Amino acid sequence: MFAPRSIANLAKPEFHRELADQLTGLLTGESDPIANAANTSALIFEAMPDLNWAGFYFLRTPGELVLGPFQGKPACVRIAVGRGVCGAAVERGASVLVEDVHDFPGHIACDAASRSELVVPLIRDGKVFGVLDLDSPSPGRFDGDDQAGVERLAAIYVAASSPLA
Ligand code: SME
Repeated sequence: MFAPRSIANLAKPEFHRELADQLTGLLTGESDPIANAANTSALIFEAMPDLNWAGFYFLRTPGELVLGPFQGKPACVRIAVGRGVCGAAVERGASVLVEDVHDFPGHIACDAASRSELVVPLIRDGKVFGVLDLDSPSPGRFDGDDQAGVERLAAIYVAASSPLA
């Protein structure tokens, strides 16, 4: 059984180092991309304070993201590339940090409670194949430390997991 260490009281850089270590441990020995996405979203949702959603979208066809494993309320299933924060992250091939979703034109509100969002692309061999999306009910929840930390988590997930069939 996996027993997460309590890391909630650590300063952000240390918190993210610990979370990265926990994710590496959790995924060691398993390469199934769906199982690993499920456990990655569960760990993030458990460990990171003040989230209301954490999960994955995958590019099942070139122009469209489809919902993957997540924690939180049921969410929009399909998002076109270029639409919303998730579609913007795919189009840019870079993370998108939104301090207040009300200020992001085209934000897709799956849960009206969401006020800030961090979307990190999943990249293999230079190609984006999905995103890791975190939502918070608090404006300004995510900062540069969170972005760097979650980019590292995404890289750990990609390295551990075989490509989606
Ligand atoms: N807010 C996202 C949609 C996905 S949900 O947050 C789970 C967006 O604008 O792309």
